[in-house]
Amino acid sequence: MIDHMWLEPNVVRDAVRDEVFFLDVSAVGEDARSLRIRADIAELLERPCVTDERDSTVRLMARPSVLESDEGFAIDVADGVTEITGNTTRALIYGFYDWMRRRMLGGTIDERIVSIPSQPIRMIDHWDQTDGSVERGYAGESIFFGRWNSNEHHEYLEFPERGDSDVFRGDMARIEAYARFLASVGINAVSLNNVNVRGVAIRLITHPWLDRVAQIARIFSEYAIDTYLSVNFAAPKIIGGLDTCDPLDPAVNAWWRRTVDDIYAMIPDFGGFVVKADSEGEPGPFSYGRDHADGANMFARALEPHGGRVIWRAFVYDCHMDWRDRTLDRARAAYDTFRPLDGRFEANAILQVKFGPIDFQPSEPLSPLIGAMRHTNLIVEFQITAEYLGHQIDVNYMLPQWLASLDTDTGYDADTAVTVPAYLPLAAVDRRNIGYAAVANIGMDDNWTGHKLAQANLYGYGRMCWDGSLTADAIAREWTSLTFARTDDEARETIEWMLDTSNATYESYVAPLGVGFMVKRENHYGVGVNDFEYDRWGTYHYSDRDGTGVDRTVATGTGYIGQYAPRIAAALEDAGTCPDDVLLFFHHVPYTHVLHSGKTVIQHIYDTHFAGVEAVDDYIRRWDGLRGRIDDATFENVAERLQRQRRNAIEWRDQINTYFHRMSGIPDSHGRSIHR
Ligand code: GCU
Repeated sequence: MIDHMWLEPNVVRDAVRDEVFFLDVSAVGEDARSLRIRADIAELLERPCVTDERDSTVRLMARPSVLESDEGFAIDVADGVTEITGNTTRALIYGFYDWMRRRMLGGTIDERIVSIPSQPIRMIDHWDQTDGSVERGYAGESIFFGRWNSNEHHEYLEFPERGDSDVFRGDMARIEAYARFLASVGINAVSLNNVNVRGVAIRLITHPWLDRVAQIARIFSEYAIDTYLSVNFAAPKIIGGLDTCDPLDPAVNAWWRRTVDDIYAMIPDFGGFVVKADSEGEPGPFSYGRDHADGANMFARALEPHGGRVIWRAFVYDCHMDWRDRTLDRARAAYDTFRPLDGRFEANAILQVKFGPIDFQPSEPLSPLIGAMRHTNLIVEFQITAEYLGHQIDVNYMLPQWLASLDTDTGYDADTAVTVPAYLPLAAVDRRNIGYAAVANIGMDDNWTGHKLAQANLYGYGRMCWDGSLTADAIAREWTSLTFARTDDEARETIEWMLDTSNATYESYVAPLGVGFMVKRENHYGVGVNDFEYDRWGTYHYSDRDGTGVDRTVATGTGYIGQYAPRIAAALEDAGTCPDDVLLFFHHVPYTHVLHSGKTVIQHIYDTHFAGVEAVDDYIRRWDGLRGRIDDATFENVAERLQRQRRNAIEWRDQINTYFHRMSGIPDSHGRSIHR
């Protein structure tokens, strides 16, 4: 049975049992979205909207200039009647689901609620591939692509022609359910295919593939979600018959313009393109002696007449590094490449920057590009799929890490701290073109996310985009209350506690103090202390008998710290003031270096790695107490994954502790056993 995530129909119906709905969009006109709201009320709540306002208790009304935002909504309650109003039908979708969530959470509305999204762009990026696989996906195959399988929940989409174009799974019911989940937490943009665009995926922007994309886009559009596609920079050569992809070549520009015009003829509210160029082997403007602004602006100009955007990824670095050369530093790459281009991007071009300078590690500082760019639209990129955070085998609720990183001082202002959400509009060229994006964590698995508790990350990501004032705990509480509405309070508290502590627990038994990348090379899950140490990827820890960590100081290291604003750089440059959780990211220190916590580095490593396994043992014990108090499928799912997590944590503990014991020769001060 396909999981209902946080919209379990019985819970939803119970919460709004006595309400009678009325929908009035006469001021703006009926559209696909208002029809969608009617359909959701009919399907989800099993009742039609009434035609006479006076018979209703909940009135959804679109009226221009209710608020300044076209996505925001207001909720008023007077004399037992609830009015949900917004300028657009888009706003009504958000208002409807927000109101429903409040009801499901049991809250009462005593005063006017006005809710306007914190981030204009609230995007999910799929790394789905046309063969049905998902790059870094841990929850089954793609819901968009892949062969039909006989699962009874699927509805096959008949294609007139077979062959290559038949790369779409055609399970429109599944996509519709997904779109509803996304809309219910305020997501307004989705990119369907992997940023590494290969094979048939290069052709998705052309017929006949485009027709299938349009069918998917229509579903998302009903839920106020704009569809984007990742494109291959070399498409004009690969599929367009041109002999160049030079972004300044008129024929190349004309090819993209035609392609874009075709797309908009099929998908009038198409969002635009996501582009990974000159990165990890993908083609890009460098081949033609052009820079990333030249590349991005070519797309921006083609998309501009239609209101589209190009989202250009800043994840650009040399992936053929020589580990022998200690002056090289991958962390420097994004800033070195893009900082000189600040102010050169078109108003509908957006630079998408991963929150950390390397790659979604369990602990990383904020990217120095975020703060340094002053005239550029930025999207901050997160990864909901748990590539380096436990593959949705280990429980890992990521909101604490994401929110901490957003709460970091960007150094934008010389005197006062400016956090990431405050900074984005200050640097923007067009304030509508900023926000967050995150790599999806869902697939065809019955529970969507492989690990049931990983649903909280998708839910939480949406909530974090919409309401920047929410804390990680508050979001975990919401998700748990909605998802386990039928469970007793104590069981819910256990689940919340697991979520709240899980990110720190995971971090405790993997690579210590921000050093990162001690993972297995082949799949990035499990311990591989030296798997990347002599490799080409630029991710080293440089442990030796005296100490460990990467010297990124200006004084003696790679100079990376100099990319931060002076006030921030000064604090990081000194190992004595550098925060513990990223110490080894910035400094090579002796094992006897004393942390702010009062412990030495080596003792911290031993203590956290022992504590990590103990924490997982605790999860197992407390989870076992939930048997019979939550649904069996969830109970078994999490119980099974906790056992795998335990094996993983033990392996990390033993290999990391043994490695550093062998390196340092320093015993554990508590005399615990460390393998020799
Ligand atoms: C990571 C990940 C890749 C992905 C890349 C990206 O390196 O391992 O699978 O393609 O990020 O963000 O482009």
